[in-house]
Amino acid sequence: MTGRFSVTVCTSADEERMLAVQEIVRGLTAEPKTLSPKFLYHEEGSGLFDEITHLEEYYPTRIERSLLDGFGAGIVHDVQPHEIVELGPGNSAKSGTLLGPALQTGTLKRYIPFDISESAVREGARALFDMYPDLGEIAAVVGDFERHLPAIPDPQGTRLIAFLGSTIGNLHPAERSRFLEEVRALMPRTEDALLVGADLVKDTRIIEAAYNDARGITALFNLNSLKAVNDLLGTEIDISLFRHYAFFNAEHSRIEMHLQAEADVAFTLPATGDVVRVQAGETIWTESSYKFTRDSFAGALHDAGFGNVRWFTDPDEMFALVLARP
Ligand code: SAH
Ligand code: TRP
Repeated sequence: MTGRFSVTVCTSADEERMLAVQEIVRGLTAEPKTLSPKFLYHEEGSGLFDEITHLEEYYPTRIERSLLDGFGAGIVHDVQPHEIVELGPGNSAKSGTLLGPALQTGTLKRYIPFDISESAVREGARALFDMYPDLGEIAAVVGDFERHLPAIPDPQGTRLIAFLGSTIGNLHPAERSRFLEEVRALMPRTEDALLVGADLVKDTRIIEAAYNDARGITALFNLNSLKAVNDLLGTEIDISLFRHYAFFNAEHSRIEMHLQAEADVAFTLPATGDVVRVQAGETIWTESSYKFTRDSFAGALHDAGFGNVRWFTDPDEMFALVLARP
């Protein structure tokens, strides 16, 4: 049997470009200077992220995958989902650990991957479609979780929402609360469940190494966001004048990833004519990755209206899969 396959694109290239320009201009003229993490995934960025997930130092992917291999089948057996919605699946490399067992339990009818990267979601969804001929439907949605979550089709039965890869950690606390509340609104049934991958607080050296790999792939990933600025705004930023800088900020329990200017840099924003000056040593803050304790994460879930929280972790408590119900 071969099911249905569709891709709904909520973004339009013109609108995205306009919003991106506004967002970039706002960030680069603010104090401190920031750039939205969305631009990390621009063009080669998705491929570079994929390389990061295979790095020796980048433990989150490896551990989360082993947790999914160990506990995924039990989790789907317990939830008995009719559909799996996956937020930010990228190329869906981990999705089989949930889809396979969910098809075996016989309940699963539909998979809905939702991601901002059209190429990644198309490629991943197509591969899963070919791999699981018994899956009735794949309804992919290309959109931004800040704006397009309501475009996810209405539920047809029990829903499992997966949000893996510690992407939740890339949202600042206020964005995280809003996001979790919106996700909660996509789960009308008490049997519905949310499965989130969360990276846990641990030895700072282990955390910092994961974001400063020896091969410099994370540096390329970070620097790629300046390439996005040049492409989207028509700026001529000399990327070779910046270096990747990532460290653990213990006060806020987050990795901060910055681009630090190694010389005074100035460039004009064609959209407004503003001249942006970055002094030698000054940084542009491109991403954060929050690390949680059991208490901090349970608190965030509770505040967004989730209860009944179950934890699945590795023996060293490096990473957690957290299952929560409305
Ligand atoms: N779940 C995968 C990929 C994580 S990387 C894993 O665990 O390995 C984060 C993913 O979220 C990327 O695929 C990226 O394209 C997507 N993403 C980032 N910001 C987004 C946004 N604002 N809206 C929708 N998707 C986003
Ligand atoms: N969700 C991933 C994380 O926070 C995204 C990521 C990978 C990342 N490498 C990064 C974020 C480097 C900031 C810096 O781990």
